Amino acid sequence: MRLYDFKKGIINSKLNEVAKAIKEGKIAVFPTETVYGIGANAYDENAVNSIFKAKGRPSDNPLIVHICDIEMLNKVTKGVSRIEKLIIDKFWPGPLTIILQKSDKIPLNVTCGLDTVGIRMPDEKIALELIKKAGIPIAAPSANISGRPSGTNIADIVDELKDKVDYIIDGGNTNIGVESTVIKVVANQVNILRPGIISPEDFEKIGIKVKLDTHIFEDVKQGDKIESPGMKHRHYAPKTNTFLVDCYKENTKEDAKGKKMIAKILKIASGTEDIICVIGCSENKKALEKISNIHYIDYGSKYNLLEISKNIFTSLRQVDKKKVNRCYIEGVKKEGIGIAIMNRLIRACDYNIV
Ligand code: TXA
Ligand code: MG
Repeated sequence: MRLYDFKKGIINSKLNEVAKAIKEGKIAVFPTETVYGIGANAYDENAVNSIFKAKGRPSDNPLIVHICDIEMLNKVTKGVSRIEKLIIDKFWPGPLTIILQKSDKIPLNVTCGLDTVGIRMPDEKIALELIKKAGIPIAAPSANISGRPSGTNIADIVDELKDKVDYIIDGGNTNIGVESTVIKVVANQVNILRPGIISPEDFEKIGIKVKLDTHIFEDVKQGDKIESPGMKHRHYAPKTNTFLVDCYKENTKEDAKGKKMIAKILKIASGTEDIICVIGCSENKKALEKISNIHYIDYGSKYNLLEISKNIFTSLRQVDKKKVNRCYIEGVKKEGIGIAIMNRLIRACDYNIV
C-alpha cells in the first residue's frame, strides 16, 4: 500500500499515478466531503469485486458511483427526469446521492443486480480531480470494514485498511463526517432513504415534497419492503454493549434536558461497579468526567450539530479501545443534520434506547 499526503495540497504526479492505477483495476482510498471512500473503476467488474472483498461487504449492498461532470452522468444512467435534473442543478457537486436508472455500461455487481444505481458528484477537490484524471466513474463505498463506523480520519483508516487497498490518499479529516443523503424520486416526491447534511427542509425550500423512509429510525422487520439494501445491515456498532440516551423524546426545555441527561448517567454510574464509557456533549463533560467509573468522550457542543457530525464516527471508534463494560451515548435533536446523526446512533446502539 502507498500512502500519499495531500493535506498541504494535491501533488499532481502522485494523483496521476493513483488515477492511472484505478483506471487499470487497482483500489484506492480517497477523501470526499462526507467520509473517505474506497474507489475502483466503476466499469471494471473485477476491480469492483476487490472492493467487496477488501470491506467484507455483503454481496447484496450496492455501491455509489462517483462522477465529476454531467457528461459522465449521461454515460452511467438513462432517463433522468425534469425534477431529478432540478435537484442535480441545486445540490451537485455535494453530499447527495440520487438513485437513478442505470445504463448498460455499469456492471451488475456495482448495483448488486438492481437496475438502478446511486450516483453522486462529490464536492471535494481531490475526489473530483481523481475522477477527472482517471477519466472513468469511480464506484466507492465508505472506507471501513463492513459494519464498522465509516472512515473520517486517516489514522483509523490506515489502521483498518492498510493491508487491503493499493493506495490511501490523506486529505485530512473530512468536513461533514456522516455519509451523503441518499434519495430516490418517486412520483415527483423525494424519498429520503438515508439522511445526511442535505435535509428535508432543503428540498421543501425548492418546492419539492419530501418523505423520510420509515426505516431511518426503525429496525427492518420481516416482510417489510426495503427501498435501500443498506437499511437492513448492521452498522457503526462498537463491540462494547452500547445504549442511546434520548432526552429529546421528552418535551422539556434545552437546559432541563442537559440536567436530565447528567442525572440519568449519574444514576446509572452510581448503581454499578462497572466501568462505563459516555459519549456526549462538551457542556456535560465537567459534571461527568470526574466520576471515577466514567470515561467521557466529548463529541462536541450540543449547540453545534455539524461539530458532532464531524466527530461521531471517530468517537464511536474510541469506545472499544477504552476497555469498558458498557457505553452510553447522548442523543441529539432530530432536526437538520441531527436526523442523520440520530439515524447512525440508533444503529450503533442496535436500537437499544434508554
Ligand atoms: O457519503 C457517501 O455517500 C460515501 C462517500 C464515499 O461518497 N459513500 C457511502 O457509501 O456512504 P456506502 O456504500 O457506505 O453507502 C451506500 C448506501 C448504502 O446504504 C446502499 O444500500 C445505498 O447507498 N445504495 C446504493 N445503491 C443503491 C440503489 N441502487 N438503490 C438503493 N440504495 C442504494
Ligand atoms: Mg458504508
